[in-house]
Amino acid sequence: MAAIIPYRETIELEKAFASAMKSIARRADLKTHIEQTPALYSLLNRAAARYVTGESRSDGLAAQQRLMDKGYAVSLEYIGENTTNLQDCEDAQAELSQLISDLSTRNKAARVSFDLSHIGLLLDHELTYRHLIALAEQAKHANIELFISMEESAKTDDILAIYKRAARDYSHIGITLQAQLNRTEQDLIDLSSGTSRIRLVKGAYQEPESISIARSSILNERYLRLIEQAVEQGHLLSIATHDESIIDEVVRRGWIQSSAVEFEMLYGIRPDLSCKLNAAGHPVRIYLTYGQEWYLYLCHRIAEYPPNLFQAVLDMSAAEQLDPLRDYNGKNTQLVPRH
Ligand code: FDA
Repeated sequence: MAAIIPYRETIELEKAFASAMKSIARRADLKTHIEQTPALYSLLNRAAARYVTGESRSDGLAAQQRLMDKGYAVSLEYIGENTTNLQDCEDAQAELSQLISDLSTRNKAARVSFDLSHIGLLLDHELTYRHLIALAEQAKHANIELFISMEESAKTDDILAIYKRAARDYSHIGITLQAQLNRTEQDLIDLSSGTSRIRLVKGAYQEPESISIARSSILNERYLRLIEQAVEQGHLLSIATHDESIIDEVVRRGWIQSSAVEFEMLYGIRPDLSCKLNAAGHPVRIYLTYGQEWYLYLCHRIAEYPPNLFQAVLDMSAAEQLDPLRDYNGKNTQLVPRH
């Protein structure tokens, strides 16, 4: 008979697995090995296809079109972070600029998301600010929102400072806040002088216990309190979670009925839930990614939900190339059961 592992021990094991995955993700030697081994590269690339639309901008734009046709709003991210080389920052900036340009010719409301560390934060704050302003200026007339992602807590002050400086002149820039950080309640109060665009997430990084709380019912309660606070402050709010208990509560409390509030979920994660909310007429935004840095992104999706490892094995061994877009139904179609 199989031994039953106590719940607390299971949680500890999963935490250890998650941190192993995250450290594997950052091993440059491993990444190079994968890139130089075609069979491995294409196998892992098949697994990444569940969460990443493809390596090129046209993959992201094609997925955007299909999802918008089904009644979803969309965010697009060109994957990348922690760029330490000036040329790589300039290249990321150029790619984001081209993305905005392509979106503007399509004349569709869209959101472009990125990490400030992709466009210079680790090199020079003034350079990062200049990059951000250049993108904001370009996006201003094209009905395109820019959204800044939130990174490790060591960067929070710098990211917020650059955001606040830019948002004074460009109200179409939004910021992501992490409920897991103890400081976030105060950060939200500090943003109360105007109407900001806020995305609320639980937080993807492992942070010290002294400044954060881990996944728990206490974190869920805090998340709900922060939503309430943001709604009362009148911000435009994206509730970015796949946690069904939180989503149900948001619907029950009537917050989603405000035109300023929407749900936002990562592409490939709980499409059944996105479909259900979309079919019920709630605003749902799907967060799409594209780019060559999919390996790191895949490892993160497995780290945050270890059963995804089995999904990855299945996806790698599937006879046909995966098409996760098929899992997203339009408003009037039947729901796909969760597998
Ligand atoms: P939680 O992790 O508690 O999971 C709740 C449930 O959701 C799970 O039990 C499972 O059913 C489902 N679930 C969650 N993750 C899953 C997965 N990978 N696969 C399958 N099911 C899964 N973080 C950050 O630090 N900075 C940022 O800028 C962003 N940006 C961002 C944008 C958007 C649109 C989203 C949705 C998320 C982010 N995140 C983020 C990530 C976020 O902080 C968080 O790590 C993930 O959303 C997972 O947390 P949940 O809120 O879903 O809850």
